Amino acid sequence: MLQQTVSGRRSFLCLLLPAVLLLVGCGSSDEADTSPDQEAPPSGPSTQDPGADDEPVRELPALNNAVGFDVFREPHARLPVPELPSDTAGQMEFDAGLPEPVISMPAGFDADSNSAPFFRNLANLEVLAGDIVSIRFEPEDLDGSLPGMFPQKLPLGGTFEDNFDGSKTFVWQPLQEDVGILRFTVVAVDSEEPGLKASQDVLIRITLPDDPSTIPNVAPMLETLRDFTVRVNDPVVFELKGQDLNGTIPTLEVPLLPPGASFLQHPRLEEIYVLKLTPTVPGIYTLDVLVRDSVDPSLTATETVSFTVLDAGQFEGSGAPLKDLGQNRDLEIGFAALQSFYHQPDGAIYAAIAAREFNIVTPENSMKMNIINPLPGHFEFSGTDNLVRFAKLHDMRVHGHPLVWYRLLPEWIMQSDIADRERHMSDFIERIMGRYKDEIDVWDVVNEPIADNGELRQADSVWYEAMGESYIDKAMRQARLIAPSATLLINEFDISMAGPKFNGLIRLVERLQASNVPLDAIGFQMHLFSSYSSFEELRTNFATVAALGLDIYITELDVSISGEGSPSAAELQLQADVYRQIAQICIEQTRCKAIQMWGITDQYSFRSNFNPLPFDRAYQSKPAFKALQEALAK
Ligand code: G3I
Repeated sequence: MLQQTVSGRRSFLCLLLPAVLLLVGCGSSDEADTSPDQEAPPSGPSTQDPGADDEPVRELPALNNAVGFDVFREPHARLPVPELPSDTAGQMEFDAGLPEPVISMPAGFDADSNSAPFFRNLANLEVLAGDIVSIRFEPEDLDGSLPGMFPQKLPLGGTFEDNFDGSKTFVWQPLQEDVGILRFTVVAVDSEEPGLKASQDVLIRITLPDDPSTIPNVAPMLETLRDFTVRVNDPVVFELKGQDLNGTIPTLEVPLLPPGASFLQHPRLEEIYVLKLTPTVPGIYTLDVLVRDSVDPSLTATETVSFTVLDAGQFEGSGAPLKDLGQNRDLEIGFAALQSFYHQPDGAIYAAIAAREFNIVTPENSMKMNIINPLPGHFEFSGTDNLVRFAKLHDMRVHGHPLVWYRLLPEWIMQSDIADRERHMSDFIERIMGRYKDEIDVWDVVNEPIADNGELRQADSVWYEAMGESYIDKAMRQARLIAPSATLLINEFDISMAGPKFNGLIRLVERLQASNVPLDAIGFQMHLFSSYSSFEELRTNFATVAALGLDIYITELDVSISGEGSPSAAELQLQADVYRQIAQICIEQTRCKAIQMWGITDQYSFRSNFNPLPFDRAYQSKPAFKALQEALAK
């Protein structure tokens, strides 16, 4: 149980500026008056205020590459791990025998014309850690030639070898780390119809032998880092993480530490070492890291970390920054910030481009309830606090996201009594908005309330389940009371075309307006694909929202390119055209206030494989960036 030491509400400003505590009356109640036509909100959080134990503390600069602002961290070492229920369900499934294959087929496929492939002679398997697992997969097809196959995911150290007779063998040595039930899935693909597939699970139950010392001690390794490009003279940090399948924690050494570099074991996360250096010459850098087994120190592995350093000139944007072009048109231009970007090797260039191009920022993940309030009464504010500090330094507005969402909820909310949920929702809004109300004046209060068919999301929302649709009214009213001059949004996806979902949203807005529920703007998320072409429908939807007296924020714009590998020039152009047209439509509509991208670089996009953002993985601007510039400048 966390110690609760401080009572009374304290705003973030108060925490930053203790000297003004008395002047601004920190610690006193700061609730706004309830206007007569509003339902009285639940009074204040019912839990004690987070105490000093929840307040972030300053982090050692050697652990991050923030430039110009201080990074704070959580005050505790690690969260207490909640006790997991024993995996009875998994065990029952194991005992029930080999799972039935899952067959998938293309839409409209005539199942009588071609039967699905299948596997013969498979069974669930029970092994001891240290044993070698060997399973032969032999797909057959009663009416076709030999099916193809692939494993969905190989466990670390596992191989899937071709026997060159139509079969393949999965070979793997599970170790201490693997104890439990592994679901290994192989997909067989029909030779004539590639859309016809049979997905077969095999369950492998791994237990510890009576004498664990019989398990071989394997060499440790380094968790793989992705490729990075950084800017010369920027600080670079690498969080290097040792791994050992025996379940122990290896130690790391850098035998040839570059001059000026620091290399520290993370003070709180034993398995992580932080290397910080500032490369002063462009080029490809490589660095050897020695990973040493903690049980047998003579057992080591050498792993190479490499990264590219480019001259500063290669990151300079050409043309005016997007935010300047936007400002000329009264439009804010923004991005969603990767959580803890200052702990990524390329965090400094990430921050530099963010500061150059954008004047509004949304935390991509750090304000989600599972992250900021993972246990009842316990808060992790450091991610959002740091972002607020970064935003202040660069004169950026912060867009709070999301207060009430049906997804990314902590387990304790999922398991809470229905009767308590209204209180939990209201506590959360109070805590988060209360803390940041002086720094954040635009909020996604309700996120994604509408289902695809235009009805309100019901069965999958813990909030709807507890309060029916009134959860929306309650959240909006409470938000207005806490931050009377903030812009309050409902943020929704798949509303950039005509259809039941957009109609459902409008029905909701009309109902809220009829009941005087505060609402200032609609957030159009817009996670699009480059095949998107419903531009006229988008214009109409914007006009419909504007006619209801609401502003429009494009809150999460990205344009994915489907297909594998690096996009072609033609694909990049298609993507750029979508960005251009969206910007154009926003410019035409005076109620459209902001164009906010869901990230900066493909490197960290949540749809990274689809390269959806205006900068590529090496922070080079793409045609999409130019298209935005041109549209805003026109
Ligand atoms: O940070 C953990 C890491 O420690 C762990 O090893 C890894 C294993 O899965 O997960 C990491 O967390 C992931 C996190 O993104 C950071 O990458 C979560 O699993 C993953 O669920 C989370 O996804 C985010 C998603 O919302 C759910 O919160 C995406 O980054 C984020 O872009 C996406 O954003 C949403 C908006 O909030 C609402 N609109 C739709 C949009 C896209 O889904």
